[in-house]
Amino acid sequence: MDVLLLGASGRIGTRVATELLERGHAVTGVSRSGTVEDIDDPDFVAVSGDATEVDDIAKLATGHDAVASALGPSDDESPEILTAMMEATIEGLRRASVDRLVWTGGAGGLEVAPDTRLIETEDFPEEWKPVASAAIDAYEILSEADDLEWTYVAPAALIEPGDRTGEYRTAEGELVADDEGDSYITMEDFAIAFVDELEEANAVHTYLGTGY
Ligand SMILES: NC(=O)c1ccc[n+]([C@@H]2O[C@H](COP(=O)([O-])OP(=O)(O)OC[C@H]3O[C@@H](n4cnc5c(N)ncnc54)[C@H](OP(=O)(O)O)[C@@H]3O)[C@@H](O)[C@H]2O)c1
Repeated sequence: MDVLLLGASGRIGTRVATELLERGHAVTGVSRSGTVEDIDDPDFVAVSGDATEVDDIAKLATGHDAVASALGPSDDESPEILTAMMEATIEGLRRASVDRLVWTGGAGGLEVAPDTRLIETEDFPEEWKPVASAAIDAYEILSEADDLEWTYVAPAALIEPGDRTGEYRTAEGELVADDEGDSYITMEDFAIAFVDELEEANAVHTYLGTGY
C-alpha cells in the first residue's frame, strides 16, 4: 500500500511508520516540520503539511491508497485543535477520493462498564481530561463520516515506548485491560495493532480499543 501518514514525526507516528515500512508499504510522512528523525528507508518520504488545512491534506492524500493519522496537539496549542485536524482530514480525503482512514485516537471514550466511559471514572487524571475530551469530540466528527471507511484505533489507558512483542488484544468500544485491571500497551505493539487494522480492515466504522 501507499500510505499517507499524518503526524509521522511523533512518538506514536514514528513507530507506525517503522511498522509500515517493515511490512513493505510505502510511506509519505507528514508533519509541519517536514522532518522525521531516525527513519532512513528508500520507501519513506518526509513532507511538510498542516493537517488543519484541507488543501494540504487533499494535495498530499491524492494518489495514496489510505491515510493514517498519529496526529496530536502540540503543548502550545489547545487540544481542541484535534477537531480541526479531523474536519480537515475528512474533507481532504473526500477531495482526494481516498476512502480509507485509520486514526490514532484516545482511550477516554472507551467503555469500562456499560454506559461508563474511561474519562468518567473517578481515577481518571484531571490533567488528561482536556486532550481526552478533545479526542472524543474528534471521534464524534469521524463517526458521522459514513462515506469513508474509517477506523478510530485507541491505545490502552497507558501507552509508552517499549518492546515489540507482537501480542495485543482489541475490543470494539471497550477499554482493554489485563486480569489485574491494568490497561497498557507499548507504542511498538500499538503500531502492530494499528497496521494490522489498516491492512485487514476488520473494524471499519469502529472505535477500537487496544491493550494486553
Ligand atoms: N492513552 C491514550 O489515549 C493516548 C496516549 C498517548 C497518545 N494518545 C493520542 O495519540 C496521538 C499521538 O500521540 P503522540 O504522543 O505520538 O503525539 P506527538 O508525539 O505529540 O506527535 C504529534 C505529531 O503530530 C504532528 N502535528 C501536530 N500538529 C500538526 C499539524 N497541524 N499538521 C501536521 N502535523 C501535525 C507533529 O509534528 P509537527 O509538530 O512537526 O507538526 C507530530 O508528528 C495523539 O492524538 C494523542 O492524543 C492517546
